[in-house]
Amino acid sequence: MIRILFAAAALLLAACSDNDSSNNAPAAAANQADQRSGALLYRQYCVNCHGSGAGGAPQVGKDHRLYWSHEVEEEGFETLVQEAIHGINAMPPRGNCYDCSDQEIRNAVIYMLQLSAAK
Ligand code: HEC
Repeated sequence: MIRILFAAAALLLAACSDNDSSNNAPAAAANQADQRSGALLYRQYCVNCHGSGAGGAPQVGKDHRLYWSHEVEEEGFETLVQEAIHGINAMPPRGNCYDCSDQEIRNAVIYMLQLSAAK
């Protein structure tokens, strides 16, 4: 969770720099805007399997908090992200979102963990 909080803090800092007159600020803001949110990607791709448990996918949601908390603790957040990017067993690479960037997949994993209230 520390990494997730750090990512959130980085986003807040990036948002604050929007009014900055330095040349880097507009480019940073554009990158943020291009990136699709975890919620959007989850609803478009991941929910098809992780919403229902189709194909043996671990289900997402507060009822499954213990499962996801355990995964985060045992495997670590970075491992979950890597599994989502590269695929594992019946989990397809990038959850079939072929044009998703690594960062976008990361966003989707964060969103899945938030939906599951994982700690
Ligand atoms: C075609 C169905 C399918 C789709 C679509 C899908 N997943 Fe999965 N996912 C699975 C299955 C099945 C597993 C279990 C793989 C295993 O460990 O055997 C899994 C496992 C995972 C895991 C690892 C869980 C663990 O216990 O280690 C993560 C993280 C994950 N998916 C993220 C995502 C994300 C993010 C998306 C959307 C971008 C997504 N998945 C879309 C089927 C899917």
